[in-house]
Amino acid sequence: MFRLKHHERYATFALVGALTTLCVALAFWTPWAWLGALLFGALTTLGLHDITQTRHSILRNYPVIGHMRFLFEGIRPEIRQYLIESDQDEEPFSREQRAIVYQRAKGEEGKRAFGTKERVYDAGYAWLTHSVAPIHIDNADFRVPIGGPDCKQPYDASLYNISAMSFGSLSANAILALNTGAKSGGFAHDTGEGGISRYHRQGGGDLIWEIGSGYFGCRTIDGAFDPGRFAETAADPQVRMIEVKLSQGAKPGHGGVLPASKITPEIAEARGVPMGEDCVSPAAHSAFSTPLEFAAFLGQLRELSGGKPVGFKLCIGHRREFMCMVKAMVETGIVPDFIVVDGTEGGTGAAPLEFANHVGMPLVEGLTFVHNTLRGAGLRDRVRIGAAGKLISAFDIARALALGADWANSARGFMFAVGCIQAQACHTNECPVGVATQDKLRQRALVPADKAARVARFHENTLKALAEIAGAAALPDPRSFRPHHFMFREKDGEMRPGNEVYAEIAEGSLIDGQDDGQGYLARWSRARAESFRPPEDDL
Ligand SMILES: Cc1cc2nc3c(=O)[nH]c(=O)nc-3n(C[C@H](O)[C@H](O)[C@H](O)COP(=O)(O)O)c2cc1C
Repeated sequence: MFRLKHHERYATFALVGALTTLCVALAFWTPWAWLGALLFGALTTLGLHDITQTRHSILRNYPVIGHMRFLFEGIRPEIRQYLIESDQDEEPFSREQRAIVYQRAKGEEGKRAFGTKERVYDAGYAWLTHSVAPIHIDNADFRVPIGGPDCKQPYDASLYNISAMSFGSLSANAILALNTGAKSGGFAHDTGEGGISRYHRQGGGDLIWEIGSGYFGCRTIDGAFDPGRFAETAADPQVRMIEVKLSQGAKPGHGGVLPASKITPEIAEARGVPMGEDCVSPAAHSAFSTPLEFAAFLGQLRELSGGKPVGFKLCIGHRREFMCMVKAMVETGIVPDFIVVDGTEGGTGAAPLEFANHVGMPLVEGLTFVHNTLRGAGLRDRVRIGAAGKLISAFDIARALALGADWANSARGFMFAVGCIQAQACHTNECPVGVATQDKLRQRALVPADKAARVARFHENTLKALAEIAGAAALPDPRSFRPHHFMFREKDGEMRPGNEVYAEIAEGSLIDGQDDGQGYLARWSRARAESFRPPEDDL
């Protein structure tokens, strides 16, 4: 149903409208036609209501026929159970995960009746250990200060923010709703690599400006990094932090192309690219090619931005290469203020299957690796770590905080909050709810003011749930979660505490050459600041 073209989407509505007129005309001949007129008239009125109401995006795009979706959703659980089982494996997020977001976005608590569906004796099951003396946390507006010793304008960030999604992959209305929600909720909105659009500015919410390999919004005619244009944009008070994108989990090491047909004047304006040409994000950056050059580039961005927090986002690939970057930090003394770790389970507007499924490290492993490497290098206190990758419930966030993150980002969680129904049509420009499309008529379905309130409520209620589970563990703040607060069921069915499963290495152990028993030191010895290439390549 959702791939219907414009005329097809409105066909039912137009048809009942025409039939109403016909019946009214026929009523001059036979009064029976009034029955038809009443029926089709009622459907026409329903259609008029559908295209004018603001709450249900699907009905604004599929007047009258859109009710079929709610009908199927509403039918008896047994049949629904069959439907769930039949398509469960096709969905990145389960119905239950999405339900939590929809409920919290509507201002309802994400509650579940009758107990858990989790398979608690399966390997991989994890749980939080609670206390017999729980505490109540009043204020759930949890914050983390971001900005190391070289940062002049530190940012006091929320513990939960909107992850990078570019204007282009998302519609103007979605960007406006997300940013307005961030403004009213006091949290940050990452621009993604598509530059800062007029809709980001209109919302007025705090921005994390992401600089990808396309250098959108700060590029020269031929696509290279333009320091002058960067400094101009970075000076904007709405820009609170600068993030260099090295990779995202769903398509690490893979560039992107926005076809010329999808480039609207607003997208061209935001990216600083010409109309009528494909807009390419190369797989690799051109502003640096070695770890030392990368460190220098980060230092240059901090300088040019007047000392705003500067960092980078990546999905861990070759672990040695990340260590090369950390070695360059140690050698140059140029240390980023933050690093965002994305898991391979992350999302994207479009990616080749192989990349989406099997390239890049899952979040838990990537996060503990980055956390430990910074500890081993004695830099952990200077760098804040953000985490992204299916973090939509308070439990997901708590576990990420325990395993090394200082804050969490979500992309698809907030997409659900603005009405995404996981139709997985982001790459077709035919998003049924106006979230991931540049089609003006389709994005009409998403009413920014209505959805902005849902974005803010989802954020607020998720942090309230986080406060509840921290309180249940008798912790005053979720940032006090540690690995030992979590238990993990292992393959052999045994349960093991997090501090065993994800053991931390000693502070400074890599610098002091102490063996950590987990292979960090061995890998560190093969890393070098001058090159990302492995030393063997020189042989
Ligand atoms: C539609 C869409 C567009 C995205 N665009 C970007 C981008 O421009 N830059 C980036 O670093 N990550 C991008 N991502 C990845 C997300 O920022 C995030 O890291 C990833 O989806 C994991 O979070 P999630 O599981 O909450 O979606 C995008 C994700 C989605 C779903």
